[in-house]
Order: sequence, then C-alpha cells, then structure tokens
Amino acid sequence: MRTRRDLLRTALAAPAFHRLYAQTAPRPALDRLLSLFDFETEAQKQISPAVWARISGGAADELTLRWNHQAYEKILLKPRALVDVSHLDTRVKLFGLELPFPILLAPTGAQKFVHPEGELAAVRGAAAGQALYVISSSASLRVDDIAKAARGPVWFQLYVQRDRGFTRDLVQRAEDSGCRALCVTVDSPTFGARNREQRAQGGLPERELPNLMGKDYLDPALTWKDIDWLRSFARRPLLLKGILNPDDAATAVSAGVDGIIVSNHGARNLDTVPATITALPLVVERVAGRLPVLVDGGIRRGTDVLKALAFGAVAVEIGRPYLWGLGLAGPDGVSRVVEILRHEFELAMMLAGRPTLGSIDRSAIW
Ligand SMILES: Cc1cc2nc3c(=O)[nH]c(=O)nc-3n(C[C@H](O)[C@H](O)[C@H](O)COP(=O)(O)O)c2cc1C
Repeated sequence: MRTRRDLLRTALAAPAFHRLYAQTAPRPALDRLLSLFDFETEAQKQISPAVWARISGGAADELTLRWNHQAYEKILLKPRALVDVSHLDTRVKLFGLELPFPILLAPTGAQKFVHPEGELAAVRGAAAGQALYVISSSASLRVDDIAKAARGPVWFQLYVQRDRGFTRDLVQRAEDSGCRALCVTVDSPTFGARNREQRAQGGLPERELPNLMGKDYLDPALTWKDIDWLRSFARRPLLLKGILNPDDAATAVSAGVDGIIVSNHGARNLDTVPATITALPLVVERVAGRLPVLVDGGIRRGTDVLKALAFGAVAVEIGRPYLWGLGLAGPDGVSRVVEILRHEFELAMMLAGRPTLGSIDRSAIW
C-alpha cells in the first residue's frame, strides 16, 4: 500500500530524477556499438557523472575492480583445429530451466538512476535478449511488479533483513510472483568504502527501496544458521551469491544449498580480494561437481565467458555492461549488450574448436 507520504515523496523526487536523464550528447546508433567496451564509452557520455560513479565505481583503490577484468586478459586460450563447428549448442540447464545460452543478468539495485522506467525497462530488454534476469532486493520497484512485467525467467536476489519475519514475507512475495530461484547475497555484512561514489554523490536523489526495511538494510549478524533457516521455508532453489573462499564453498555444499555464485560483488565491497576468475578454479575444485557454480565480475568479452566455463562455471552473470545498455537505450540497449556478448561467445566457441558447452574444459586453456 502506497501512503500519501510515499506519493508525495515520489512527486518531490521526480524532478531530481529527471535531471539525471537530461544529457545532451548525441546518442549513437546502437548498431554502431560493436563491443561492450563501446557501450561503456558511449554510456559515460549519456549518464550523469554522479550516477556514472555509482554504477562504475568499486571499493577503495579499485584494485580488485581492475583485476576482475585484467585477470581474464592474462589467461590464454588453446584452440583446437579441424573440429566440426558447423553446429553449436549453447543451451544450458539450470535448476529445471533450459536457457539458450549461459549468460545471465546479475542483480543490480536502483535502476531508476539509470533509466526512468528502471527495472521494468531492464527486464523487458532481458526478455528480448533471451537472458535470465536476477531482480535485486534493492530494486527501485517492487519485486512483484518487476516479476509480473517479465516475459522471460527471473530469479530474486535477497539481502536478508534484520527483521526475519519481514525477510520471510519478502521471500514469499518473490516466490509467489514467479521468481524461480533465490540468490542470497553473503558477501555484504556491510558495504565497502566506495570512495569514487562518495566523492561524486552530490545531487543524487535518495534511493527508493520499496522491497527493503529502510536504508540500514544489511544484517552484519548473518551466519550459516540463517542459511539453514532460509532453507527451511524456501520453495525455490537457493544459491549463495558472493562466495570466494573455497572453504566457504565446502561449507555451502554441507549446508545443502543448491548452487554458488563466485562473486566479489563487482569489486564494490572488499578491495584487494582476488579477481573472481582467479578464485573460480579453486572453488570448483573443492565443490567437485556437487553443486553448479556460476561466476560474475569483469566479464566483458565472449572469450571471458569461454574462459569462465573452461574453469568450471556452468554459467556467468554480467552486471555493469547491461546498465550501460539500459542507460543508453533502455530495453533495446540491454538486449543489444546481451546479443553482442552471446555472439562473441559463439565466435569464441567456433574459433577454439569447442562446439558444445560440454567440450569447453581446462583443455581450452593454454
Ligand atoms: C550498480 C551496481 C549495483 C549492484 N547492486 C547489487 C545488489 O543489489 N545486490 C547484489 O547482490 N549485487 C549487486 N551488485 C553486484 C552485481 O550483482 C555483480 O556481482 C557485479 O556487478 C558483477 O560484476 P560486473 O559489474 O563487473 O559484471 C551491484 C553491482 C553494481 C555495479
């Protein structure tokens, strides 16, 4: 129920939000943007500096932020010649869903900063691009409204709230509205020192967080006990998002969760942790096939997707790149970003002589 106070607040916030989108640089035709990096360059010209700092910044000195992508650059591929790659199979089964390709859209909060329709525009773009979209707990719209607007599969990312009753209701609301899996974020007892964002903050309207209890919404007391508690009532597969340490991965297996997302929160929390692609093989080794492992962070090229799969991920997620698309061109921008990355991944499979996901393994790494 929206109260009069909510409506008044929204009305007052509206002019401030409007200022965010009033950029004057000419918009490039989408088909002239050939890579995700082209989207980054052009999006920066369109998005207000404070919002840009918010979506592109990382924690502290942004060392991990740099490493997340650089680590992929240092991994060499080992192609196989004379393999029949005339038919590619990129389909992947994940928790009872068959996805046409293993690239998902990671949960990112407050998308109204980037586009006036926020998550509704993003989820439309995801469906057009055939990519699964993970709805963030800190979305600027209600999870039910986003899920109802979705024309493709959606998952829900959960920040466990201090009030466990509220958390339970939120999970049930997400499940009832059609979210097919829950990704519990476990790397955020607090947020990192986001200096770039802090420096640029002036002029941003207050974030709207209609799914959460207020601004102070992270629970630093969260432990494995709470994962057991969530499992006791969750009706959908439960994944832990934000595992880096192989010991935690082993505990996750014992805790009976359904999957793991190797993530350092897009380098926004603890600076100087390793790039996720550095942690991935160690986690995969410890898990030893007992759970599906996904990975996110710094994935910008189809070859990055191939490398992540070669190191044992079943699928990858991207965060910032689809926000660049959203800021530049709404749903069309999101679907174009997905299409480019998907196409690059297919090229990489062909050129590396790996026509199926099953044929992508460590032997694809030099
Ligand atoms: C602007 C922004 C907001 C984010 N919000 C959330 C969030 O609400 N919940 C969450 O679990 N992760 C959040 N993340 C982390 C992403 O889910 C993901 O881990 C990360 O963006 C992947 O790295 P990449 O941006 O290099 O692709 C956010 C990331 C960004 C950039």
